[in-house]
Amino acid sequence: MKKFYLTTPLYYPNARPHVGSAYTTIVCDVIARYKRMCGYDVAFLTGTDEHGEKLERAARAEGVSPSEFVAEKRRLFLDLWKKLGIEYSHFVYTHQPDHATSVQRLMRLAKARDPEVIYKKTYEGRYCVSDERYIADGTEPADCDICGRPAELIREENYFFRLSKFEKPLLDLYSKHPEFVQPDFRRNEVVSFVRNGLRDISVSRQRIKWGIPWTDDPEQVFYVWYDALTGYLTGIGYAQNESGGPDYQRYWLDPESEVVHMIGKDILRFHAVYWPAFLMAAGLPLPKTVFAHGWIYYEQDKMSKSKGNVVYPEPIIDALDSFGAPGNDALRYYLLREAPFGQDTSFSYTALIQRFNSDLANDLGNLASRTITMIHRYFGGVLPAYTELWEGAQDLTAVASTVIERSQEDFSRFDFSRGLERVWQLIGITNQYLADMQPWVIAEDSSKRGQLANILCTAYEALRVVAVLVHPILPTATQGLWQRLGLKGYVGDVRLETLAWGQMQAGTKVSPAGPIFPRLDKTATLAKLGELAEADRERDEATVKGFREAPLQTKSEDEEPKEKTSVESESGKAPSPGTTSSSAQSPAPSTETPKISIEDFAKVEMRVGEIKSAEPVQGAQKLLKLTVDIGSEVRQIVAGIAEYYKPEHLIGMKVVIVTNLQPRKLRGIESNGMIVAASVGREGRPVLVTFKEEVEVGARLK
Ligand code: MSP
Repeated sequence: MKKFYLTTPLYYPNARPHVGSAYTTIVCDVIARYKRMCGYDVAFLTGTDEHGEKLERAARAEGVSPSEFVAEKRRLFLDLWKKLGIEYSHFVYTHQPDHATSVQRLMRLAKARDPEVIYKKTYEGRYCVSDERYIADGTEPADCDICGRPAELIREENYFFRLSKFEKPLLDLYSKHPEFVQPDFRRNEVVSFVRNGLRDISVSRQRIKWGIPWTDDPEQVFYVWYDALTGYLTGIGYAQNESGGPDYQRYWLDPESEVVHMIGKDILRFHAVYWPAFLMAAGLPLPKTVFAHGWIYYEQDKMSKSKGNVVYPEPIIDALDSFGAPGNDALRYYLLREAPFGQDTSFSYTALIQRFNSDLANDLGNLASRTITMIHRYFGGVLPAYTELWEGAQDLTAVASTVIERSQEDFSRFDFSRGLERVWQLIGITNQYLADMQPWVIAEDSSKRGQLANILCTAYEALRVVAVLVHPILPTATQGLWQRLGLKGYVGDVRLETLAWGQMQAGTKVSPAGPIFPRLDKTATLAKLGELAEADRERDEATVKGFREAPLQTKSEDEEPKEKTSVESESGKAPSPGTTSSSAQSPAPSTETPKISIEDFAKVEMRVGEIKSAEPVQGAQKLLKLTVDIGSEVRQIVAGIAEYYKPEHLIGMKVVIVTNLQPRKLRGIESNGMIVAASVGREGRPVLVTFKEEVEVGARLK
């Protein structure tokens, strides 16, 4: 049997998943259902990527331990997938005990094949915590080219992976297997990136504790991307035993298995350059395809909590369900139909309602209810015998056969929008056919019973074919349609290769027609969507607040002394590189932030400052130039807060300034001090620290 292993990215559980994160998972669910209908043995993995600095900081911001934090947020993902009816077969979270074994094993294999592939050196450069990636070497300030945030300076001794060695093998891979990176325009980007030369990359971090310990160096943890990508192996049992568990053998090692990683465009480089290099280094088979899709924006803008424009799926589903419409299917259809897959698209509630009304309620819904009602009215609810499947109008046999064949080609290329468009051509032509043939007029002439039967059977057959073809996208509604058509079993069990025009059986008893897609009233639906989104937001805030206020006394798993980290091991030694780590040997990472003495803290001088002036910095959207009175003097400080604070609102504000930092230049302007802010949410929105009581300018914080 043909095998297919499909993965979503492993999501950072640092915040609640929104419609953007749900997008990849929905798409994968559609593909998995489609492939099952094509007769593949499908494994479908999703999961969460739980280590790294970003998660460590997010947990700290909420005042809980990282393992508590990720466990709580992981739940939100599991709950949403349940609500969305996602039929994944495997779930991995990178904090699960056997994952450390996978990561350490992959590295051990690489080093065994070529001891030079990993080396240690001191790294000084800029790191973007939000995207967990290295931006530039050296100390010069740099912004992340993905999220635009200023990258932080790090200086550490790290292990490096000799990525440069893989330049040629990677270029050979892209040229011999163009399907490795899809769509084509994304492959061109990757090829030109690699052609420009690959630099070795750091694959460990020293400062971070929340990660998988480097096997023979307890001072280091694995770089979060090395850790996360290996999750694709752990999730199918790579660590189950020395040679990998049965699912790993079946879906990864078997040359007959097609492995597809579905990802968003922002994480292409990690999947199309780093990941195949890590696998080549370890001598493991490569995936067949990395497919990078576009992003969902909200009114052309990136969704962000601070902008208040994040769209969550739950209120959409509940709002539509409350009108008797299948909310889940409506959302799936909208997301897959609206944008050519691979391109960016902008989410709009109005467009969602319009798509629902025009394509689902009007086109498909009407065709179904008219046809089924007429079969009841004119043939007592039993499908009559027919002599030919079209009468006088366009030859639907040819149209339907082409649609059956071509839409499957489109779906196989993940071109859902095109595939759905084709299926809707068949629906449109059939609706037109009914309008032209006017069976309700023919029904008045008892000598034309045969012709009437032919017409209604044609419409019925179109519905049957459509139900099968669009089942992966509309799983609930098509099953409802299937039952109304009087068909037995589960429509998803139909094998697509057996689907052909003209297979319906005379004598089938159809069920009563009831609407599958009741038309939505735009104003009422928008009002309901707004109301539920607002209630959802309030609930969300209350949950986050409750979570923050939850007592910390409960022992988290990382505080339990059950498992010892390599740092704590009794001998004081880390396990040798050859040791296979069982869950006990590959302990849960430690979460402790290194302690500093009071003297260390005293070295940081923080004072109350009053902002005297604030103005934008020419050519730097994110920066504001401030003058701040710190009591003894007025300082010039450049701060990356322009996106969140208007200059006029800052004047007179009492803030906290770190006054003994080395001055530095930002965009050529000297900044002498740092303004202290909380970094909030996934976006890292800065919230300036200020005072509830009157404080004297220049007062020291201790
Ligand atoms: N943890 C890494 C992935 C590791 S995979 C081994 C990560 N996580 S993420 O949570 O930040 O992003 C997960 C996926 O969600 C990415 O593919 C990203 O492109 C996708 N999306 C996040 N926001 C999105 C939209 N607004 N629209 C579409 N996809 C988006 O990166």
